[in-house]
Amino acid sequence: MKIAIACDHAGLEMKREIVELLKNPGIEIFDFGTYSEESVDYPDHGAEVASRVSNQEVDRGILICGTGLGMSIVANKYNGVRATLCHDAYTAEMSRLHNDSNVLVIGGRTTAKEIVKDMVRTWLSTSFEGGRHNKRLGKISQIEKELSKKID
Ligand code: RB5
Repeated sequence: MKIAIACDHAGLEMKREIVELLKNPGIEIFDFGTYSEESVDYPDHGAEVASRVSNQEVDRGILICGTGLGMSIVANKYNGVRATLCHDAYTAEMSRLHNDSNVLVIGGRTTAKEIVKDMVRTWLSTSFEGGRHNKRLGKISQIEKELSKKID
């Protein structure tokens, strides 16, 4: 599985933890920064990951900022991106089962490291449930199509 990851300065420490966790033969990691404590703007790094998930260059994305809020706003602007701000293993599991989440968003200042490891493992290993949730995701795709027609 190809996973793109990025953070802003507020998510840097958490990103480092997650990159270590992802070092695994079945996973190819693409790290789009940031790489230092210097203050940066989360939309720049969020866009790097969300655009690659949107155009299917990678299978999934992980984004971390202070609260996860800014990264969520950015990522969900991209067609086909279903970015979910998760707080624990339960929300991570539900985000896969019901929402077919393809971008996991984490608050680096709001979530404990131990919880995050569990969340990431759960998010990676849980499959989309399909069934009635397909219809709902179809409605989201339909909204995206209608909005993009208005832009054209
Ligand atoms: C940076 O200070 C902070 O605003 C950012 O990491 C994020 O929490 C925004 O939503």
